[in-house]
Amino acid sequence: MKKISILGSTGSIGRQTLDVISQHPDKFSVVGLSAGNNTELLIEQISKFKPIVASVADEESAKLLRSRVNSSETQILYGQLGAEAVAKIDEADLVVSAMVGASGLRPTMAAAKSGKDIALANKESLVIAGEVLTDEIKKSGGKLLPIDSEHSAIFQALECGEKGHVKQLILTASGGPFLNTPTDELEDVSVEIALNHPTWKMGKKITIDSATLMNKGFEVIEAKWLFGFEADQISVWIHPQSIVHSMVEYIDGSVISQMGKPDMRIPIAFAISYPERIRMNCSTVSPESFGDLNFQDVDLKQFPALSLAFDALREGGTLPSVLNGANEIAVSAFLSGQIKFPGIVSTVKKVMELHDTQPANTLEVVLESDRWARNTAQSLIAN
Ligand SMILES: NC(=O)c1ccc[n+]([C@@H]2O[C@H](COP(=O)([O-])OP(=O)(O)OC[C@H]3O[C@@H](n4cnc5c(N)ncnc54)[C@H](OP(=O)(O)O)[C@@H]3O)[C@@H](O)[C@H]2O)c1
Repeated sequence: MKKISILGSTGSIGRQTLDVISQHPDKFSVVGLSAGNNTELLIEQISKFKPIVASVADEESAKLLRSRVNSSETQILYGQLGAEAVAKIDEADLVVSAMVGASGLRPTMAAAKSGKDIALANKESLVIAGEVLTDEIKKSGGKLLPIDSEHSAIFQALECGEKGHVKQLILTASGGPFLNTPTDELEDVSVEIALNHPTWKMGKKITIDSATLMNKGFEVIEAKWLFGFEADQISVWIHPQSIVHSMVEYIDGSVISQMGKPDMRIPIAFAISYPERIRMNCSTVSPESFGDLNFQDVDLKQFPALSLAFDALREGGTLPSVLNGANEIAVSAFLSGQIKFPGIVSTVKKVMELHDTQPANTLEVVLESDRWARNTAQSLIAN
């Protein structure tokens, strides 16, 4: 029986993780749940999974929760410290890190410091603090298992050869809702259209990141920290059907891909059950369900966010953290109608240009650059 804590249990990844766990009650149990403000859903989850500890974003929500759940069964905590407590609870063997954005960094660090195995969806943690987080995981001896479908694919494809024999990692990208939209029409796209992803149903922030392709840029940085490859060994190809989740090309010309329907429960199941495989309730694939598979290069004029992420990866230090912090502010400004869609990437670009990159070898430095990027993005947007 593997005991699991979930950070971000009320989100898209959190709910799908609980779905996988529900299909295998003989293999998994839930010992910790952490959410933001969706107390109603968290109450349902607590009553079904009976964790030892649960946490919410603020004291008000914690009070509400305490009045509605059996507190002799589940301890209710709140805030950053609450999420960290869920991440490091002694009973957990594995922590699913699925909060959104930089809010996931400290709890993920807490899991790393406690030597937990981490199934990572919160890619922003690795973008902001790749060096610090991976060093901590190495020190404490836990495993870092990817949940992102692309990285799950690469993880599996890398098991077919030696690292020294890899020519390149090829991350696939659906291209999002604006793959075929002329750039001059992006000025007027609505939030609703930007949130309408053609192949994946996800939380709002990652859906907007998928529309700009910033998400793919983050995944390029994530790939560096997960697998230890540099920018010139990582490529991105557009693959609108999201069936080939990513590939590894070896020096002998073999290309190993991992394929499957676009369903996040598949990589979640792989990550939480690793090194075993568990049976999933998926329909068997057929030629019709895969259909035609197409691949093309990314047009960087259409998707300049990807170039910014490669720039940040090549320069390193605090620049990836600045890329992420500025992007979080710009995405929420777009979602609240303060800026237009192209303003997301132009804001991030300006903040990066204003930044004086420092080495990013402590959590404090990384968090300071994140704060600076948010403040700078906010004042650019306000002006
Ligand atoms: N969705 C996908 O298919 C997918 C695929 C690959 C990777 N990822 C990555 O997985 C992560 C989560 O994505 P998602 O789509 O699941 O996001 P989401 O649906 O927006 O869920 C985010 C979760 O984080 C919680 N949360 C947000 N702010 C918080 C705070 N300050 N304190 C505590 N909890 C907080 C939310 O709680 P409340 O809802 O209760 O407020 C929710 O449980 C992201 O890093 C994303 O890039 C997602």
